Amino acid sequence: METLVRFIKAMPKAELHLHIEGTLEPEMMMELAHRNHIQLPYVDVDEVRRAFAFGSLQDFLDVYYAGMSVLVTSRDFFDLAFAYLTKMHAQNVRHVEIFFDPQGHTARGVSFDTVLSGLVDALERAERDFGITSKLIMCFLRHLPEEEAFDTLKHACRCKDHIFAVGLDSSEKGHPPSKFSGVFREARENGFITVAHAGEEGPPAYVCEALDDLQVQRIDHGNRALEDEALVRRLARDQVPMTVCPLSNQRLQVCPDLTQHPLRRMLKAGLLVTVNSDDPSYFGGYLTDNFLAIQKALALEVSEIVTLGRNAFLSSFMPQPAKRKALEAFDDFVDRFDFR
Ligand code: ADE
Ligand code: ZN
Repeated sequence: METLVRFIKAMPKAELHLHIEGTLEPEMMMELAHRNHIQLPYVDVDEVRRAFAFGSLQDFLDVYYAGMSVLVTSRDFFDLAFAYLTKMHAQNVRHVEIFFDPQGHTARGVSFDTVLSGLVDALERAERDFGITSKLIMCFLRHLPEEEAFDTLKHACRCKDHIFAVGLDSSEKGHPPSKFSGVFREARENGFITVAHAGEEGPPAYVCEALDDLQVQRIDHGNRALEDEALVRRLARDQVPMTVCPLSNQRLQVCPDLTQHPLRRMLKAGLLVTVNSDDPSYFGGYLTDNFLAIQKALALEVSEIVTLGRNAFLSSFMPQPAKRKALEAFDDFVDRFDFR
């Protein structure tokens, strides 16, 4: 096996941008539809896969929200999350920060506590069985009114032990971060860290708003920040982590040709960028696949892969002692790796 491929596969990894509902594989979708007596618009797994051809973020979201309708019981959420964590264990992932979209479930009559209890049980079991540590990030759906986000925040405030941060996802264009200034302020007052998707399809101004109005500690995606030189200088100066998702960008036509992907430009600009999978079931690859695809497309060098891998631990919300240990283990892995 080529050295770099071996290196990427064996490297200890952290994933910081992963929607748990986006790990729903077509096989599990069909199985849960059967288990829960849910009617899907697809007859079999092949037809589900054929629906995974997206012209834009909105095209994807329509399929993603339809797919999640099969998730009904705590056991479903447990099975979904544990299947992802088992795959991550096999890919040498040591730490994950997972988004979930409660409004995608409560709107269908599935309670917040049903969702959260299944996810928390899976995360606790993965820590026991695999030593994978984790944080949960609850996202507000930005196509919905801010009022509904306030209702969702009330649930999070009851469950502070299990939810570390709040985020913002769904249809970006026409839904600027400033629409959620009030609910993000209340979230911060309640001790939640904040992050937001920005600059995926939306303009660089949305990245500025996420920083200024929502006071986020990370930008999810952020590709379009490159269009604003002053913003790039600010992101580099403040070392704001950015969670970039190569296969997602390709599949959602943010960057259809991966050889044109901005990741190397982002690295060269001194940005604190990381590689992530976003919605791996829908975009054709988990974390390792994202590293392999972008390495190949841009002919990234070992030193660049090391920076990207290390950045993920640096950018994580791990508590300081655990972060220091994870970085030491990462550096030790690099030092000991046989590059011959
Ligand atoms: N929800 C799930 N994946 C998303 C993405 N890439 N952008 C916005 N919302 C999402
Ligand atoms: Zn995302």
